[in-house]
Amino acid sequence: MLATSAAIKGTKTCWYTADRPIREADSRRLREADNPGVSDCCSPKGYRWIFSERNARADAQRYRRKGLDPTSRRIVEYLKQRGVEGRTLLEVGGGVGAIQIELLKAGVTRAVSVELTPTYEPAALELLREAGLENRVERKVMDFARSAGVFEVADIVIMNRVICCYPDMLELAGAAAEHTGEVLVMSFPKAAWWTRTILALGNLALRVTKRQFQVFVHPPDQILAEAERHGLQSALEMPGIFWQIAAVQRAA
Ligand SMILES: C[S@@+](CC[C@H](N)C(=O)[O-])C[C@H]1O[C@@H](n2cnc3c(N)ncnc32)[C@H](O)[C@@H]1O
Repeated sequence: MLATSAAIKGTKTCWYTADRPIREADSRRLREADNPGVSDCCSPKGYRWIFSERNARADAQRYRRKGLDPTSRRIVEYLKQRGVEGRTLLEVGGGVGAIQIELLKAGVTRAVSVELTPTYEPAALELLREAGLENRVERKVMDFARSAGVFEVADIVIMNRVICCYPDMLELAGAAAEHTGEVLVMSFPKAAWWTRTILALGNLALRVTKRQFQVFVHPPDQILAEAERHGLQSALEMPGIFWQIAAVQRAA
């Protein structure tokens, strides 16, 4: 089902909304009472530091020069093989939206992007304008896990390297599964000693420097079990050295 602006009923539960100017949104602080899950480990300041405007500009520039990174490319290739013509797309935590652009070019009709961090918006809009696709993507700055109810189901849902940035995996994976009409594709760190070690060291550095942000290695089998609990079945498990890709599809 198409997720259009008309489908988005409100933005009250979000951290920042795309309806307000980014600068005004920047100055707003997350109220702990409204977002207890996130504020346990992370804060908007922490997310903004990690996913800064500078990093967003660098992501956009890398995409312009080199195209998609290997994990994103594998996701797009898989979806193209399945068929994307005429489908709608919802991407959660899509950053500058490179995957959306590639899939729109491949035949997806419309896309909705839900990003927690406002820092990506200028770079993402610039990329969309360059591709002439700004009228086919709706970008919202919201916490999808907490505001999913305002979005409609999309044929294709993507969460690429997102679950590991959010503490409440069950809420986020469940909301994404609930909004999947056809297929949900996710990537997350594989459960291996080296991913745990690298991320544990990263978390230690983040704690020492008081960055108010942590990364999580949520167990892949629990992520998939949550999707299955919402009526999806395993369609693909693509191993990788660090990032594992999994697709789950709506049972016929
Ligand atoms: C590591 S980045 C990945 C960006 C992009 N998907 C990529 O692979 O290049 C994780 C992104 O997920 C977003 N994110 C995390 N939790 C989210 C949530 N609950 N709702 C929306 N976005 C979320 C963060 O703001 C961040 O931009």
